[in-house]
Amino acid sequence: MSEQIVGLLVGMENTFPAPFIAAVNERGRAAGVRAEMATLGGTQEFEEPNYAVIVDRISHEVPYYRAALKSAVLMGTTVVNDPFWWEADEKFFECTLARHIGVAVPKTVVLPNHSYIEGVDPQRSLRNLRYPLPWDEILEYTGLPAVLKPNTGGGWKDVHIVNSRDQLVAAYDTSGTKTMILQEFIDWQDYTRCICIGGDVYVMRYDPRREFAYRYVIDNPPDGRLRERSEELAHRLVTALGYDMDTVEFAVRDDELYAIDFLNPAPDFDNFSIKEDAFSWVLDHMSSLVIDYATGQRTAPWTGNHRFWQFVQQPAEDPANVAPR
Ligand SMILES: Nc1ncnc2c1ncn2[C@@H]1O[C@H](COP(=O)(O)OP(=O)(O)OP(=O)(O)O)[C@@H](O)[C@H]1O
Ligand SMILES: [Mg+2]
Repeated sequence: MSEQIVGLLVGMENTFPAPFIAAVNERGRAAGVRAEMATLGGTQEFEEPNYAVIVDRISHEVPYYRAALKSAVLMGTTVVNDPFWWEADEKFFECTLARHIGVAVPKTVVLPNHSYIEGVDPQRSLRNLRYPLPWDEILEYTGLPAVLKPNTGGGWKDVHIVNSRDQLVAAYDTSGTKTMILQEFIDWQDYTRCICIGGDVYVMRYDPRREFAYRYVIDNPPDGRLRERSEELAHRLVTALGYDMDTVEFAVRDDELYAIDFLNPAPDFDNFSIKEDAFSWVLDHMSSLVIDYATGQRTAPWTGNHRFWQFVQQPAEDPANVAPR
């Protein structure tokens, strides 16, 4: 039995990597699976993959990784999460998808960009855009207060709560080349955040009004209907999106759960924010997921979905061979 290696790509986080690698090494030893920090650099286009699985926690900030990972998928590596889908996914698309699958989301509008890369001539390249923007019409739909935030992004960067048309336009004027969405502000009475790994869901109460380190509320875990609904809806969203790991947030208003942010494909796994019990759950679920992928016991939900698989000859024993022929 040849050794199967799980590689980990990380960003700034430092509480998850070492315990994750240790957990995979301990639990995977008997099955011939070993984990390590991945090393990449100067990838060739037809390179034999070093890794059976790569857990990607940072390609949204290191574009070279994303490029290398797409090729690695084609060469037989299972990448967590799917680099093609992660790159394509956006908050606005997710809101439309949520509506289609019966998950409530705030009323949302995607806005034309405020600015463009140099050389874009408004007279020629922006001919299809309504100008000026119909702010009153847009605000009539979302209402006030509203939330202006990037269509892709994280860390609460450039998230503005606006109370008037003037505040909205002032915030929009700072958005530069980013694509922004405007959402109805959900004035919530309760809030949950669900960590989703490999089809399983860990529901926590979350209080976004608190300081960062105290937002996951551990002394008052959600139970009953809130817990069940959070779990069910988070599972529905993540299954539709095909993420192996993600975090899904719900604001609860008048007994209805509104999905607020579910584009978190490199979820916060730091033990100081999610706390001990959730951290153990994450280690347990992440390690068994990658061991299952490395040993072929489980296949990533998105494997074989891309059109190019039809044209690629896969070795028979490769789990990617579920591709349509
Ligand atoms: N429509 C909304 N209604 C009420 N609150 C909202 C809404 N949108 C965002 N927020 C608040 O702003 C916070 C940040 O928004 P969001 O999660 O979309 O941004 P993010 O940058 O992806 O954050 P994170 O890094 O936590 O994933 C949310 O946790 C929530 O408290
Ligand atoms: Mg987010």
